[in-house]
This record gives sequence, structure tokens and C-alpha cells, in this order.
Amino acid sequence: MPQNKKAVVVGALGVIGRYIVEKLLAEGDWQVVGLSRRPEKDGPRYRHISVDLLDLKDVARKLAGLNDVTHVFYAAFQPGTGAAANYATVIVPNRDMLVNSVTAVAKASRRLERVVLVTGTKYYGTHLGPLKTPMRETDPRHMPPDFYFDQIDWLTDYQRGKKWSWTELRPQTLCGFAPGTAMSIMPAIAVYAAISKELGLPLRFPGKPGAYGTIYQVTESSHFASAALWAATEARAANQAYNITNGDYFRWRNVWPRIAGVFGMKVGELQTISLTQHMADKADLWAVMTKKYGLRKFDFGQLVAWPFADYVFGSDWDVMSDVTKSRQHGFHDVVDSEAMFERLLKRFRKEKIVP
Ligand SMILES: NC(=O)c1ccc[n+]([C@@H]2O[C@H](COP(=O)([O-])OP(=O)(O)OC[C@H]3O[C@@H](n4cnc5c(N)ncnc54)[C@H](OP(=O)(O)O)[C@@H]3O)[C@@H](O)[C@H]2O)c1
Repeated sequence: MPQNKKAVVVGALGVIGRYIVEKLLAEGDWQVVGLSRRPEKDGPRYRHISVDLLDLKDVARKLAGLNDVTHVFYAAFQPGTGAAANYATVIVPNRDMLVNSVTAVAKASRRLERVVLVTGTKYYGTHLGPLKTPMRETDPRHMPPDFYFDQIDWLTDYQRGKKWSWTELRPQTLCGFAPGTAMSIMPAIAVYAAISKELGLPLRFPGKPGAYGTIYQVTESSHFASAALWAATEARAANQAYNITNGDYFRWRNVWPRIAGVFGMKVGELQTISLTQHMADKADLWAVMTKKYGLRKFDFGQLVAWPFADYVFGSDWDVMSDVTKSRQHGFHDVVDSEAMFERLLKRFRKEKIVP
């Protein structure tokens, strides 16, 4: 196959970026350049550039030669320091990384066709509390700050009058198999279930009572990568935003027995606990379990970010994106979320991340 498409994946080592790289390489007709601060080995059709996107000199030196790039997939992210609620603090680095990388590639390459920007459902304020559902792409924004707004406003403004176009994708709670990536709900469920079992406890939903029965949604990482590929190459997706989820909805109370089934456990009565607090003393137990069951060695803190799990299990309001627009524009893939939880958790067991 001719290798006529060349992608730059910005944030290539992230939860989302990794899957996009994998997807493009599997396609066979893409050359891929991955960007992140950490180094990574090159491979067939893959070149990694270790660059700090907040360092303009570093960016200029390392990205100026990218003169044949056709597509940019932007999935870099810098979480905030300080109070989580201080959303304003994350705006500047996240906007500047986008500005610096896209500007460098757009200036270097006359072949640029599309920039795919990954944002998320926090665009609608899913993290703030109850909101209008289903969320549609045309819904008004929530009260700023929200770094997505700054990224989108800059990109739409910068693209105006240029030959290339942009597409913005809004996923929700990515689910994949990426052990060592702590900000993910899959390892949180796997480790919580394994520890409950080890302690002889039934599998209890640890979140808020309202969260057990409310409507929720997720996006499987590999499914999202397929959507990103579609978005990059679909003519109708030029200068458009799309919600990208599995395309179905679920309630944790229906998923919970299936999760318990994977671990051969009984479902217990819901009991709300802070996982951040109740898992804080479990690193020693995990070390014992790692030895006892021959698990792959991970630092307990590297395996799961418990505040993220508390956030997901604390959402006691409907979280429901409308994906009609992406379907109408040609992306028809769907994932059965309940079956996905079983499939991914079985993999966590099979690959010895959890017993
Ligand atoms: N994960 C989810 O469940 C989820 C859900 C919805 C939306 N989103 C959105 O998706 C986007 C990507 O998030 P993610 O979860 O994939 O992030 P992530 O896993 O934290 O990955 C971030 C990537 O950015 C790179 N990066 C950070 N700072 C950099 C810098 N100064 N220079 C170069 N590279 C840098 C990181 O690599 P280095 O550290 O090596 O630099 C890494 O490759 C974000 O906008 C996020 O809000 C995520």
C-alpha cells in the first residue's frame, strides 16, 4: 500500500494517543510521528520525537522538518496542579501546547489536510453536576473556565481561511487496557474488586446511591481511535464537532453483577465510601497479593488514581451524549458497554494485572 498519509499524534504516549498511534499503524498506509516529552522507541513506520511543547525553542528545533504531514491528532494534556476546582490554572498550558504544535506543523507542511482535536464531555459541564441531557453538539457552553473552550476558539480562529480543516471529538471516560495509566476507571474497578475479594467482602458499589442507578456512558479507547481515524478522513467532518461514546448507555447497578461475575464474587449492598481514603492504606496488601498471585509488578499509586474513581462513582446525575450527528455523517461503529466491561476486566485478570 502506498504510504501517502503522515500523521503527527500529539500526546502519543497518553491514554488516547497510544490507541490512535496503534490504530493508524494497523491501517498500513500511514506513517506516524508521535510527540511527547518522554522518549519512546521508533518502529516500523513510527518515529517518536521527544519534545516539550511548552518550550518554543525545542518545538522550533524539532518540528520544523515535518514538511509532509497530512493529519494532526491532538491528544496532549496537562493536568492542573493545586485545587482541582481551580479549572482556570490548566488553561494556559493546554492552550499553549495546542498553539505551539499545530502552528509548527501548519507552517512546516503544505500538505496538511485535517487537525483532529480531542476534547471531552466536560465541554458540557458533565463534571459540574446535573445538566441537560442528551448533550448535543449544538448545546450552549457551560460557564467558563474550561480549557476546551480556549483550545476550540484558538483552533477555529487560526484555521479560518486556510486549506486544511479541523474536527473536534468529545469522548467520555475512556476505557481500555493500559496498565500503569492510573487515571482510568478500568484498573480502578479491577483492583477494587480484587481487594474486596481478598478481604472476603462481596462486591459493593462504593459510589453514591444515586450514581448506582443513574444513566452513564463511556468510550472504549479502541473505538475512539476508530472514530478519530474516521474524523480525520471524512469530508463531512470538516470543521465539525462530534460526541463520541460507545453509542449506548448503562446503569452501574446492571453492570455490577457482570463485574462480580468476572471475579466469581457475590454482589453486596451498596455502601458509599471514599476510595481515596479507603485505598490509602492498601499498598502493602497489594504488594502481598502481587507476590501471592504472581502479578505483574506495579507501584500501587501508578496502577489506580482513586480520586478519579471517586469522581466517576460520585456522578449521581444522568450523563448522556447524543451521537446522532456522527452516525448521520458516517461513523456507525458501536460498542456494547456492559460486554466491554466484562471483556476488558477478563483481560486484566488474564494478563496478571489483578488476580
Ligand atoms: N482519559 C479520559 O478518560 C478522557 C476522557 C474525556 C476526555 N479526555 C481528554 O482527552 C485529552 C487527552 O487526555 P488523555 O487522558 O489521553 O491524557 P494523558 O493520558 O495524560 O496523556 C497526555 C499526553 O500529553 C503529553 N504531554 C503532556 N505535556 C506535554 C508537553 N509539555 N509536551 C509534550 N507532550 C506533553 C504526555 O506525554 P509526556 O508526559 O511524556 O509529555 C502524554 O503523551 C484531554 O483533553 C482530556 O481532557 C480524556
